[in-house]
Amino acid sequence: MKFSDTLFELPSAAAPAPTPRFINLRGRESPGQPPRSTVQELTEGLMAEAASVSPKFFYNALGSRLFEAITALDEYYPSRTEAGIFQAASAQMAGALAENGLSHPCLIDLGAGNCAKAMALIPPLQPRQYVPVDISVDFLKDAAAQVQNSFPALDIVGVGMDFSAGLALPDEVQGRDRVFFYPGSSLGNFQPAQALAFLRHMADPAQGKARGLLLGIDLVKDAATLEAAYDDALGVTAAFNKNLLRNVNELLAADFDVRQWRHVALFNAAQSRIEMHLQALCDVTVQWPGHSRRFLAGERIHTESSCKYTVESMTAQLKLAGFRHIRHWSDPQDWFAVFWAAL
Ligand code: AVI
Repeated sequence: MKFSDTLFELPSAAAPAPTPRFINLRGRESPGQPPRSTVQELTEGLMAEAASVSPKFFYNALGSRLFEAITALDEYYPSRTEAGIFQAASAQMAGALAENGLSHPCLIDLGAGNCAKAMALIPPLQPRQYVPVDISVDFLKDAAAQVQNSFPALDIVGVGMDFSAGLALPDEVQGRDRVFFYPGSSLGNFQPAQALAFLRHMADPAQGKARGLLLGIDLVKDAATLEAAYDDALGVTAAFNKNLLRNVNELLAADFDVRQWRHVALFNAAQSRIEMHLQALCDVTVQWPGHSRRFLAGERIHTESSCKYTVESMTAQLKLAGFRHIRHWSDPQDWFAVFWAAL
């Protein structure tokens, strides 16, 4: 039987799809306790003069669901625009991979979330192995099981990990023909220097071992469109931002009162990025074991930067990281671009 036939075999009523393998690398010191590095990282950020919390702390179970809701909002154009690009050009993308000798890659989906984007790409790309990776372990387990249901013969290895800390994937992940799939402009949540370091790490034969990268990136556009995308009329993005405080409460045993904070989103043109902040509505003292921090009314916690690139500036980053064969596809308005970059 040809590879393509086995991949799309339908599950029969008698033989339910197997449960995909899942490797959880999110080590915990003891049940119910977050790892010490998480406590340190959060404490350092909250105690800094200009307080900040990494956007990775948005994604507890509720945060992942709120992000899913964001992607359905009228104002949040990136998801539907990117989906349109994949729909229009996935066959060309598969052709570009094949030209680089990657007809049946190991597709590593960084920040896979509900795996919906990869699900649409599995038929055209025909991966030999699919590796969804996400920090939100339970959410990812469910999503990986759904992918396995749709593609019962596909080899799936789910990995629960904080890949911003490194790309050392477990041995179950095939070492050859690795194609990283990093859609949704998530690379934009790194500062440009960190983004470059991450791309280099991906391409490093001793680390990510990438042979190629399919990357979705949001492009620079007018400030009003950008700010509306991050401050929607329904307040879903505001809830997503404030839910970070609930996650911090859980991880640190802190006592943030969500009602004392408001959501702020603004375009910083000089840095070409949307910034999200939480701003104290009154003087607030927050406590957690061993620490306390006083925020004056109006003071902010920086929770996210979402950097916006041009096709030229992202091409330059990819070249600096060592990628050689670079192509891109975009929508008619040039709001978003998908890059294929091979080594
Ligand atoms: C996941 N990431 C690319 C989203 C973004 O657009 O920066 C997260 C997000 N923040 C607010 N809305 C969506």
